Amino acid sequence: MEFRKKTIRDVEVAGKVVLVRVDYNVPMKDGRVAEDMRIRASLPTLNYLMENGAKKIILISHLGRPDGEVKPEFSLGPVAGQLASLLPEKNVDFVDETVGDKVKEAVENMPEGGILMLENLRFSPAEEEDSDEFAHQIVDATGAELFVQDGFAVIHRAHASTDAIAKILPAVAGFLVEKEVSSLEGAINDPEHPLLVIIGGAKVEDKAPMIEKFLPIADMIAVGGKIAADGYKTTDEKVYVAEDFIENEEGAKLDIGENSAARIVEMIHDAKTIVWNGTLGMVEDERYAQSSLAIATAIGMADAMTIVGGGDTTGFVESVLKEEPHLTFSLVSTGGGASLELLSGKELPGLEVLRNR
Ligand code: 3PG
Repeated sequence: MEFRKKTIRDVEVAGKVVLVRVDYNVPMKDGRVAEDMRIRASLPTLNYLMENGAKKIILISHLGRPDGEVKPEFSLGPVAGQLASLLPEKNVDFVDETVGDKVKEAVENMPEGGILMLENLRFSPAEEEDSDEFAHQIVDATGAELFVQDGFAVIHRAHASTDAIAKILPAVAGFLVEKEVSSLEGAINDPEHPLLVIIGGAKVEDKAPMIEKFLPIADMIAVGGKIAADGYKTTDEKVYVAEDFIENEEGAKLDIGENSAARIVEMIHDAKTIVWNGTLGMVEDERYAQSSLAIATAIGMADAMTIVGGGDTTGFVESVLKEEPHLTFSLVSTGGGASLELLSGKELPGLEVLRNR
């Protein structure tokens, strides 16, 4: 599917100070990055900017939900360190402020072609308030001339760094946003049929709109996870709801059973486009991860366009890929809420604000 927004390929980046919104909201453990998929996913954009002569690259992101207060456990310092380790030949620095003279000085002192990461945007309440003033302060401190939105996972939010700032500077998409949006929109608007949508997960209220959105376009919809365990009912014959479950001692249905998993695997074999959002059981416990493992393996071997989205599903597939690197997926989305909203047909403010082609 053709991407309808301008990207970094469509503008001059050489000699420019470029401000890049990334989503480095990554899982942390004991002050270190526990999982760096979102950081690795930003590298194609950063490498392109460096290879094409961007003068300075300034990165902005949030981490967690510090609620507008400076909380050291949410500092992006360790995240910048992880980025530096992924780009050993490059100059990657960090400054523990987001606006003001300290940032100005750090930008002035950084080498040409270098990368500077600013502190967590959400240490100021102005970020989530979509404050114009805060956006201007970031632009003034960094001297940025071009804005690149590559934080796909946060483009469903209208914040200063996803909305206000894109109204101040020329604003284009990075490669991650282009890839995610094109793949996900392609699955909704122009899928190769048969299209199979597999829906699981724990947040039942999020999944019903997705089923509604896909009902007119999907050939098959398979429902597992909590929504099936809670007794989801439909009369639509293209929807298959899991029929058997694995229960714990208290009788809670924590995974779909072997028969249901086998039926969904059969559907996978028949499909040409597969969208999977939401694990089918409580995968944190290995005893209830078996159906999701079978489905991940079948999708990873399918001769089809395969899209995996949703926070829990993506994390699960990443862990399966570590054990079974031969599996392949067309897109393992970095976005939880963002991919769900896009697949449910909602507009994404951080995407809409970017320049059209
Ligand atoms: C995410 O992890 O889904 C994004 O980084 C957005 O974070 P948020 O839900 O705190 O806005």
